[in-house]
Amino acid sequence: MMGREFIPIFSDWAAEYDETVAGKDEEYRAVFLKYEQLLAEIAEKAGRSVVEFGSGTGNLTQALLDQGKNVLAIEPSPEMRRIAKSKPSLSKVTFVDGDMEVFPEITDAIDTIVSTYVFHHLTEDEKQRVIGKYAAMLPKGGKVLFGDTMFLSLARKMELIDEARQAGHQRLAADLEREYYPVTADIERYFRQQGFTSRFKQINEYVWLVEAQRE
Ligand SMILES: C[S@@+](CC[C@H](N)C(=O)[O-])C[C@H]1O[C@@H](n2cnc3c(N)ncnc32)[C@H](O)[C@@H]1O
Repeated sequence: MMGREFIPIFSDWAAEYDETVAGKDEEYRAVFLKYEQLLAEIAEKAGRSVVEFGSGTGNLTQALLDQGKNVLAIEPSPEMRRIAKSKPSLSKVTFVDGDMEVFPEITDAIDTIVSTYVFHHLTEDEKQRVIGKYAAMLPKGGKVLFGDTMFLSLARKMELIDEARQAGHQRLAADLEREYYPVTADIERYFRQQGFTSRFKQINEYVWLVEAQRE
């Protein structure tokens, strides 16, 4: 399996994850600002048949169900899958073991691929590979909708890491340095090279919503 190097972090984090996204962890409050709006906007823009990667505790899954969408959720962490499955409102959803690149074959026709706070787990090479794979899975007009931390420039990324450190947010600063948080221009290029047009909307200081459509 690829891109799974950060799974142990999520196995430890799973039990408190929903408190973090609700803003309880001060270090991550700015990262999860407008989290619910982000999920609702992705769910609204999604088509009818959706594959979700890195579903975690199932919050985006729930937003998609609330808008009447069909969802197949793929998540590599057993702890995360267990928490999502234990939520009564998600009991009918299938949560499958897999990651953004390696997952069981999908035989149903799909029109949308979504994920939130996941894409940065993949290296730049992996990101490009999976976008190529998704292009092959989607019809013309099909969409990829990603919400995740990214930066307008490397200089801005460095500034935010410094700010985090000065604010005493050492876990956040270390996370921003350790994982593969990209710059928006690279993400735009990766999608363009695979035949997508993309639009970017900033959600908070860290997170952008990327809406890529297959031409
Ligand atoms: C920050 S959580 C986001 C969960 C959920 N999407 C949300 O927005 O609340 C990241 C999730 O991605 C999963 N993950 C980590 N690496 C992954 C990969 N390579 N492919 C798919 N999911 C991955 C983790 O297990 C975790 O559940």
